Amino acid sequence: MSDYVEISNLSKVFPTPKGPLRVVKDFNLRIRRGEFVSLIGHSGCGKSTVLSILAGLSDASSGGIILAGKELTGPGPDRGVVFQSPTLLPWMTAMENVMLGVDQVFYTASREERRQIAEYYLVVVGLGDAMHKRPAELSQGMRQRVGIARAFALSPKMLLLDEPFGMLDSLTRFELQQVLLDLWNRNRLTALMVTHDVDEALFLSDRIIMMTNGPEAEVGEILEVPFARPRHRKELLENPEYYRLREQLIEFLNTRAYTLKGQTPGQGHGPGPGSNTITMVKSMMAAEPVSRS
Ligand SMILES: Nc1ncnc2c1ncn2[C@@H]1O[C@H](COP(=O)(O)OP(=O)(O)OP(=O)(O)O)[C@@H](O)[C@H]1O
Ligand SMILES: [Mg+2]
Repeated sequence: MSDYVEISNLSKVFPTPKGPLRVVKDFNLRIRRGEFVSLIGHSGCGKSTVLSILAGLSDASSGGIILAGKELTGPGPDRGVVFQSPTLLPWMTAMENVMLGVDQVFYTASREERRQIAEYYLVVVGLGDAMHKRPAELSQGMRQRVGIARAFALSPKMLLLDEPFGMLDSLTRFELQQVLLDLWNRNRLTALMVTHDVDEALFLSDRIIMMTNGPEAEVGEILEVPFARPRHRKELLENPEYYRLREQLIEFLNTRAYTLKGQTPGQGHGPGPGSNTITMVKSMMAAEPVSRS
């Protein structure tokens, strides 16, 4: 498979009271068509910065991105975006929220065909019975399902997800990871997901991009996830290779995210050992894995 997304020498400089801050420097990444890639790194290293440039919500200071042979210049419906909270219009039902984008993208289709597209994705994410409810009548997890349905319903060239399950309790997170994986299996959209969660990254991804600590963060190491698809969480959790790869990711976050930048752990933008990220990773390791096949 050839490269579908080419991110070349991407850099981002923010003006700050102390002068220009180069948050990301020479970030290079190639993504194949239909590949699911995760971006993992310390809080504040620049993951969302990279994702928002890809989404066209922020300009690169230098470097560029090519998607399906075309240079990206701004936002567009060719990229479906899912953030931590889905920002739904509160006066519209789930169906109407999804229809908003569908109406724009499939404007040559009939009203009935567009309605069927929205309904299909709402049913697949498990909202068959709730599609005519407004956001206030939906739980946080249900709202995030609407956000996922909305992104897929546009049939985008690429899916961009920024910690899509970060605000959810762990059971709902597991459920929605499965929903995302099932949808992705049907569509094989090219996807880039930012996450803090090593288990989420291992469960969903073909490759995991580990970002170094900032400032001037870049791609540190890349982990190929070898598990065959379709994946089942229970089987993964019984595979010793899973724990070896998990340890490799945690080891990167604990040490190499810093040392690759010539820092000692605790320097730079990353919060260092004892920080939230590290504490969270350690507590995840200690936690009893919840399996769901
Ligand atoms: N508009 C801005 N102006 C100045 N600095 C910014 C701006 N946006 C982000 N930054 C800085 O850029 C760095 C990277 O931020 P970014 O949001 O990309 O991090 P992140 O890796 O997504 O972190 P988290 O995991 O906490 O979401 C941070 O140090 C942040 O303070
Ligand atoms: Mg972020």
